Amino acid sequence: MNKKLFFKQLNLYPTQLFKFIHSIESNDLLLLNEIIKAAAELPTNFVEYYTFPFQISKLPCQDIKQILISKKAWIILRHLEYIPRYNILMSQLLNELKLSELKISNKFFNPASFIFISSPNFITPFHIDPEHNFLFQITGKKEVLVNDASVSPLITSSEIEDFYADEFGYSLSFSPDYLAGLTPIKLDAGEGVYIPFTFPHMVFNGNDISISYSLTFRTKMSEHHRRVHLANRALGLLGLRTKKYGESQFRDSLKSQLFPLLNFVNVRKKYSDF
Ligand SMILES: [Fe+2]
Repeated sequence: MNKKLFFKQLNLYPTQLFKFIHSIESNDLLLLNEIIKAAAELPTNFVEYYTFPFQISKLPCQDIKQILISKKAWIILRHLEYIPRYNILMSQLLNELKLSELKISNKFFNPASFIFISSPNFITPFHIDPEHNFLFQITGKKEVLVNDASVSPLITSSEIEDFYADEFGYSLSFSPDYLAGLTPIKLDAGEGVYIPFTFPHMVFNGNDISISYSLTFRTKMSEHHRRVHLANRALGLLGLRTKKYGESQFRDSLKSQLFPLLNFVNVRKKYSDF
């Protein structure tokens, strides 16, 4: 890497949104041709191709560029760290984050890396993610619209509870009224944004093909948030009224400890819904 990650504000991690500067856009592994090779190396369930209105599960690699230009398409490569050379890249970035003044401790887990490739003017739907997310813009421009959930949350605790109960299958509903509550973050190649876990966001791609790299991980803090929300959901399913996350530290701590037991209620509900 040519230059270190650069953060203007150091006191915002891990609970606030902020932009940063990076230089990984010049890494050969993040060129479209290299990414296409990586897509062929990953297990098929780690590569998702979407075109609208149809979802396509597998496309011939040589057609990807053409499809990106001629149609509205979105390609996601998940868990790139399964490929050794991308695992090295992820480890380098994690080391830079640990050495940076953000004071990211060693106590993170489940680090993962993703690549998103989008057609010109593609819109990524409004959603939330369960992990701390460092999003690096590699090629093209995009605007990330993020709801600062620490100040004026647009979604309710019960929506977050339902999301945690089905992290892959849950889709967040969106109202045009939400637009006023979203902070626009413009990203050029060489820029990035840190999005705290469960901050709702959507992405408007610019006029060119966009490539972004995402580095995510979980921490004790994000896991506590997940466990308390899932415990609250379970208590709700049992017909018990309870305080929301954050209203009582003592109860949150108790719920987090009881989570393994309470979560059986969520699991039973999930399978009874099938
Ligand atoms: Fe996201």
